[in-house]
Amino acid sequence: MTPTIWTPSSWREKPIAQQPQYPSAQALEEAESKLQQMPPLVFAGEINQLKTDLAKVTQGRAFLLQGGDCAESFSEFSANKIRDTFKVLMQMAVVMTFSASCPVVKVGRIAGQYAKPRSADMETINGVELPSYRGDIINDIDFTRSSRQADPERLLTAYHQAASSLNLVRAFASGGFADLHQVHEWNQHFVSNSPLSDKYEDLADRIDQAVRFMEACGITSRNTPQLHGTTLYTSHEALLLGYEEALTRRDSISGDWYDCSAHMLWIGDRTRQPDHAHVEFLRGVQNPIGIKVGPTTEVSDLERLLSILNPDNKAGRVTLIARMGADKITEFLPPLVRAVKASGQQVIWSSDPMHGNTIKASSGYKTRSVDAVLREMKGFFEVHKAEGTHAGGVHFEMTGQNVTECIGGAYQITEHDLAERYHTHCDPRLNGEQALELAFLIANTLKAARN
Ligand code: PEP
Ligand code: CO
Repeated sequence: MTPTIWTPSSWREKPIAQQPQYPSAQALEEAESKLQQMPPLVFAGEINQLKTDLAKVTQGRAFLLQGGDCAESFSEFSANKIRDTFKVLMQMAVVMTFSASCPVVKVGRIAGQYAKPRSADMETINGVELPSYRGDIINDIDFTRSSRQADPERLLTAYHQAASSLNLVRAFASGGFADLHQVHEWNQHFVSNSPLSDKYEDLADRIDQAVRFMEACGITSRNTPQLHGTTLYTSHEALLLGYEEALTRRDSISGDWYDCSAHMLWIGDRTRQPDHAHVEFLRGVQNPIGIKVGPTTEVSDLERLLSILNPDNKAGRVTLIARMGADKITEFLPPLVRAVKASGQQVIWSSDPMHGNTIKASSGYKTRSVDAVLREMKGFFEVHKAEGTHAGGVHFEMTGQNVTECIGGAYQITEHDLAERYHTHCDPRLNGEQALELAFLIANTLKAARN
């Protein structure tokens, strides 16, 4: 089948899943055209740089760490929140860089992660049926008729919030907040306070020795910019295509199209139909693309997606994000890994150990256990070891805040604790300590994979 001509709006001719119903098409058009007048959030050169960095991951010379909120919200938006998530991502990255002995490419689920796919269009509470909450870029989480109405003005609010989040992320990354010495100090603080400090101490000490050794050799953050600053790229699910189209711009140098709402975009497990709108939109932009790969993904679907989304087989273009569930990963992943390997397609395999492990606590809260998350990740690494392929990255839903949304971990959060600080607008996130623990717990696995 010859592909039709791609334009930023050619997705509009295709069937589409997971979209809201707006009460006024005209109001939506007005919001989208205002958005089209806004400056891009990121620029082509940065997107290309991420692709170059990810190409190294494809070749096994770097590792990908992607993480952040399940759903960013308008109400939980603050400098401290951005700071704390940024901080934990940096702390995890240092532990992973040391254990894997290779660069870690850092990508946040941040500055644009506002739209959510839902399992049902409607939600019923006490006999009242209203549209489901679809993320703050679409409607409000409150369960009232007016809150659940899709509101196009939200596209602009999301854009402005993304712009100010990104501004702060860039300032943190280059302004000294991500200095290796600083991040290392936070890690030491984390280890000395953790109930499992015995477990983490050895690794933290070895990192400490490495930092001191560098210093003794005269390599400091004053003379080595790589130790003083870093890059945190942005990413989100490309779900609300009107928003993505409005921020898609043609690069004046190459003439190519880039979705300038974020550096990396991914296609969710519910919108990866090869002949549908989301795949159509993403095939035409040059950004690195993630594809969620779930237990229902067939080998033939995946082959088709890769041929549509990366026809020239460019390294760094596609990251396959496996989200199978701890009990399924070792059964469902190998045939897909084998098929991709046999096809010669250059991809990154990354593990999302969150979305296949969501359970409902008896109190009704959606939760995930740190044990299941760890088990899925370990299964992911085992499969790649057995298949002789590179386990290239991890993808977490996490926050720097001290929330109680996932159970387990060193502080042994129980189902009973969930109600205490359950703030997520969608799926349960690892809190800062749980996320960091996981980085320490996979250190040996990363080291073994590297060797
Ligand atoms: C997500 O990453 O928040 C998400 C909805 O994932 P998936 O599409 O894999 O279910
Ligand atoms: Co989620």
